[in-house]
Amino acid sequence: MAREPVNVSEFQQLAREVLPKMYYDFYAGGAEDEFSLKENVEAFRRITLRPRVLVDVSRIDMSTTVLGYNISSPIMIAPTAMHKLAHPEGEVATAKAAAACNTIMVLSFMSTCTVEEVASSCNAVRFLQLYVYKRRDVTAALVLRAEKNGYKAFVLTVDVPRLGRREADIRNKMVSPQLKNFEGLISTELESDKGSSVELFANSMFDASLQWEDIAWLKSITKLPILLKGILTGEDALKAVEVGVAGIVVSNHGARQLDYSPSTISVLEEVVHATKGKVPVLFDGGVRRGTDVFKALALGAKAVLVGRPVIFGLAAKGERGARQVIQMLKNELELTMALSGCPALKDITRTHVTTEKERLH
Ligand code: FNR
Repeated sequence: MAREPVNVSEFQQLAREVLPKMYYDFYAGGAEDEFSLKENVEAFRRITLRPRVLVDVSRIDMSTTVLGYNISSPIMIAPTAMHKLAHPEGEVATAKAAAACNTIMVLSFMSTCTVEEVASSCNAVRFLQLYVYKRRDVTAALVLRAEKNGYKAFVLTVDVPRLGRREADIRNKMVSPQLKNFEGLISTELESDKGSSVELFANSMFDASLQWEDIAWLKSITKLPILLKGILTGEDALKAVEVGVAGIVVSNHGARQLDYSPSTISVLEEVVHATKGKVPVLFDGGVRRGTDVFKALALGAKAVLVGRPVIFGLAAKGERGARQVIQMLKNELELTMALSGCPALKDITRTHVTTEKERLH
């Protein structure tokens, strides 16, 4: 029987044992030197907590809302590609885990189950992550299908004009399976002698000319709210508010795009300040502990999204593993709130954390 992990990082070890090397590397890896990959996790360790005592914490309420949807805790599932490489049930299993944990799943555009399959398998609130392709009709077709199938928002990922250089995938000659959403639209089953077929696919299909003005096009084809994922500066956060998006996700794509981009937790506050509370700011990158969630909330995030840990849970134990990962983070967040004197999320404030910069002053 598989070992029972006691924290989220132990799921990564289990996943490494069960996955073929090519797939483990695809999930775990980052771009080039993987500086930002390490930083995303390490930067959390440089933030310490300022707990308050003698507060009634006999009841802890972690519930919140995102775009008006109630969720049981501020921990959501990030869009990550190709879950069937981790487990035969793929994104359907992940969506069931999201429903069981009463949270929101953001389905990746590059999923191995269709938007319809995922929609019919569970009643989780689902958002669909989008890329804009050179062939706009492909993106438009997916928008329509998502609307028909009850997805509640779109998360447009804006940090991939070209794919980052993921050297493990190049070395392994990573093969992309046929991505189910594109069946009948475009072939994604590419094989590349020279390196990663994911890179080949993305670089030939994604529209690298996409600019701020093009958000109007997406808004013109849907009434659903649009969030922008991949914002790392106050300047871009301001622009996002100006073009009328419903929310922002501070993200460096799990450090898979631009290496030496800052750790996401180090820029969260800058983005939050720039938005002046006009739109919710979500956060992802390096969340591995309940204390990480607490820190992101203290620095102004409305909720966090979790990427790799959910895939590792899925790889290790299917739907149950993905559920356990979310549940572990929830349990840790609950304990952190209790030990910090915060009975509800609104009680978590900027005064509950000290950044490295503050400590050095
Ligand atoms: C991703 N991410 C991603 N993002 C996106 O917008 N569309 C996608 O298809 C994918 N695919 C993807 C695959 C894999 C294997 C990983 C690890 C990541 C990025 C993802 O949404 C998120 O930003 C990061 O995963 C967050 O960092 P952590 O939680 O993995 O550290």
